[in-house]
Amino acid sequence: MLDRPVPWRDAWERALYGDAGFFRTSRPGDHFRTSAHVGLFAEAVAELARRTSAATVVDVGAGGGELLTALDALLPGTELVGVELAGRPDGLPDRITWGPELPDRVEGVLIANEWLDNVPCPVVEVDDDGVVREVLVDPRTGRESLGEPYDSRWLGTWWPVAGPGRRAEDGQARDAAWADAVSRVHGTAIAIDYGHVRDDRPLFGSLRSYAGGREADVVPDGSRDVTAHVAVDAVAAACGGRLVRQRDALAVLGVDGSRPPIDRARSDPAGYLRALNRAGEAGELRARGGLGDFWWIIADTAGHGTLAT
Ligand SMILES: C[S@@+](CC[C@H](N)C(=O)[O-])C[C@H]1O[C@@H](n2cnc3c(N)ncnc32)[C@H](O)[C@@H]1O
Repeated sequence: MLDRPVPWRDAWERALYGDAGFFRTSRPGDHFRTSAHVGLFAEAVAELARRTSAATVVDVGAGGGELLTALDALLPGTELVGVELAGRPDGLPDRITWGPELPDRVEGVLIANEWLDNVPCPVVEVDDDGVVREVLVDPRTGRESLGEPYDSRWLGTWWPVAGPGRRAEDGQARDAAWADAVSRVHGTAIAIDYGHVRDDRPLFGSLRSYAGGREADVVPDGSRDVTAHVAVDAVAAACGGRLVRQRDALAVLGVDGSRPPIDRARSDPAGYLRALNRAGEAGELRARGGLGDFWWIIADTAGHGTLAT
């Protein structure tokens, strides 16, 4: 590990994806729960695939393959592809293709749940004289210092910062990564993530770390996740996409959080419990202040007109 301050983006890249990086040595599911770990989420993706007659579903940043494993049973005739820098998970159904590269061309659905927040970005801060500078970090301790003055067209357009101490993350690399993914798709491409739009950017940025199910000190040492909320309006503009909250997108796909009628508990106790469990999952996926607030950045490159809300 480097023992001198480096730009955040470099430290972040190494911390997550270097040889001993966080996502090389552990699976996301060991540390946090995402929509992909909730059964009904796969049902919604399967419904989208059916409505758009998708030949293929590609999961970018597929983590432990949870979504694809669930889709294996739900979409028997559909090609399933995991794009993931980490190795193939043990026990992944044989028919699921797995590798680190995006396919050149996708006929169908490409989905990326909580990928873009892990695409490293330059971090900037305004110094006491009002100059925007790149933030440097010591990867061993997380201790920060300010580096050279920093300017970019992306910041000027999407996240202008002014006032000592104000911070931002320059999302240009995320816009480019997602635009590249979308350019390969004939069908529907959806990036799903926590994020912000121009009117509600966080004043001091949103760099965070998580490990073992908890928020941790932000240190790019490979022992923990490093993430920052996504400037979703910038990503949408870069790919010609639309923004929809997860709760609304899932409602269109039939994810219903209503509880089963109590009478069913007597007439069909097992069915009642199953329905109650589904309602609980729907509630989790659509919750305000939780997963329901996530943004779906939807690019419909085949004119299906699906997910109109
Ligand atoms: C927060 S995890 C999300 C995993 C899963 N999608 C979920 O929702 O549980 C982000 C994943 O993206 C993967 N990843 C990051 N950059 C990638 C890239 N360029 N190509 C493929 N996978 C990538 C990481 O290795 C990590 O497993």
